[in-house]
Amino acid sequence: MNKNINFNIIHNRQNTCSVKYDFIPKIKNKNIIPMWVADMDFKSPVTVGENLKKIANHNIYGYTYVDNEYFSLLQNWYLKRMNWKIKKEEILCVPTVMFGISAAIRALTKINDSILISQPVYYPFSNIVLANDRKLVINPLVFNGKEYEFDFKDFENKIKENNVKVYILCSPHNPVGRVWTKQELLSIAKICIKNNVIIISDEIHSDFIYDNYKHHPISSLSKQIAQNIVTAIAPTKTFNLAGLQAAHLVIRNNKIKDKIFKSIIATGFSTLTIPAIQAVKAVYKEGESWFNKLLKYLQQNRDILNNEFSNTKISVNNMQGTYLAWIDCRNLNLSCEQIEKLFLKKAGVWLHKGSTFGIGGEGYMRLNIACPQKVLNKAITKIKDIL
Ligand SMILES: Cc1ncc(COP(=O)(O)O)c(C=O)c1O
Repeated sequence: MNKNINFNIIHNRQNTCSVKYDFIPKIKNKNIIPMWVADMDFKSPVTVGENLKKIANHNIYGYTYVDNEYFSLLQNWYLKRMNWKIKKEEILCVPTVMFGISAAIRALTKINDSILISQPVYYPFSNIVLANDRKLVINPLVFNGKEYEFDFKDFENKIKENNVKVYILCSPHNPVGRVWTKQELLSIAKICIKNNVIIISDEIHSDFIYDNYKHHPISSLSKQIAQNIVTAIAPTKTFNLAGLQAAHLVIRNNKIKDKIFKSIIATGFSTLTIPAIQAVKAVYKEGESWFNKLLKYLQQNRDILNNEFSNTKISVNNMQGTYLAWIDCRNLNLSCEQIEKLFLKKAGVWLHKGSTFGIGGEGYMRLNIACPQKVLNKAITKIKDIL
C-alpha cells in the first residue's frame, strides 16, 4: 500500500460539496488558497475507497449494526499508539465529536449551569454551550513567551465563583498546538475532582503528535481520574473522514455513561452509517503506515512554516501537535478582519481569524498546514511578499 502514498499531489476539490473549497470568496484575478477549516487536502488511505466501492457494488443500504470487529480495531489503535486500554462497554458511538459533546452537556448539566472552557479554543465549544442555554465561563490561556499554559489559579477561581459543573478540555489544543504534559493534565484533574467538575476531554487531534512530545489520554492517568472523564475521540481528523462522520465517547463511569446514553437516545440518533462503519474499520485495520507517513510529512510542513516565518513581522507557534498553526500577527497592528481581507486580497490566501477562537485570539490567524508542500510554500511566499 505504501507505494500509493504521495502527499505531494495537488487534488482539485472544487465542486465536491467541500466547505473549504466551495465557499472560497471570489476575488478578481486571484486563485485563493483556502487554509482555514481543519480538513486535509490529501486523499484518505486507498483502503477506504476500496471498502466504499465494495458497499456501492453491493448496493444495499439497510439498517446497520456496529460489530465486534469495529470495536476491537478501535481499541487496538488506542492501546498500541497511546497505551490506553479502553473496554468495549465504555464506548458510545456518535456521528460527530461535537454531537457527542453536546449530548454530554445536556446529560450532565441543567439549563443555566456553568461550563468552563480555556480560550482561545475551538469556537464550537462556546457555541454549543450557549446554544444549550448553559452559562459560558472562560479561563484564558496564558502565553509565557515560549508557549501557552494554564493559569491554574484563575481556573480554580472561575470554577468556585461560578459553581462550574463541566470543563471542556481540548487535548491536544486547537488552535494553540499544545500537547499538554502529564503534570498539566494531573493539575486539571485534581482541581476538577476537588470541585466536583466533570471533564469532557476532546481528544480528536490526539494522533497528531510531533517528535519529542507525547499525548496522555487524561482518562488513562489514574483509575480515580477515569471516573470523572468523558473522552471524545474520532478517526475523522486522523484519516480525513469528516464528511463520513464517525466519533466515539469513552466513559468509564457507569452512572455518567447511562445519563449520556439516554441523552443520545433523546436526540433520535441510533447508530453509524454503513460507509462510516466500513471506513473506520478500513483505516484502523490498514491505515497505520499511511498515517505514520502523513505525520512525518506534516512535521516537515511545520518546520517549513517555522523556518520561513522566522525573522519576519509575524511569528508562528511551535506546534507540538495538531496540523493547525497559530500565527501571531499583532505586529501588523491590524484587526483580524483587516488581516483576513489583506491576506485574501493581496496574498490570495484564506486563513481563519484568530478572534473567532475567543479571548486571546485578536491579532492572531490560524493556518492549516495539511496540504501539499508546493501549496504551502506558495502560500508562505505570497504572505511574505506583503509583509
Ligand atoms: C478540537 C476539535 N473538536 C472537534 C472538531 C470537530 O469534530 P466533529 O466534526 O467530529 O464534530 C474539531 C474540528 O476541527 C476540532 O478541532
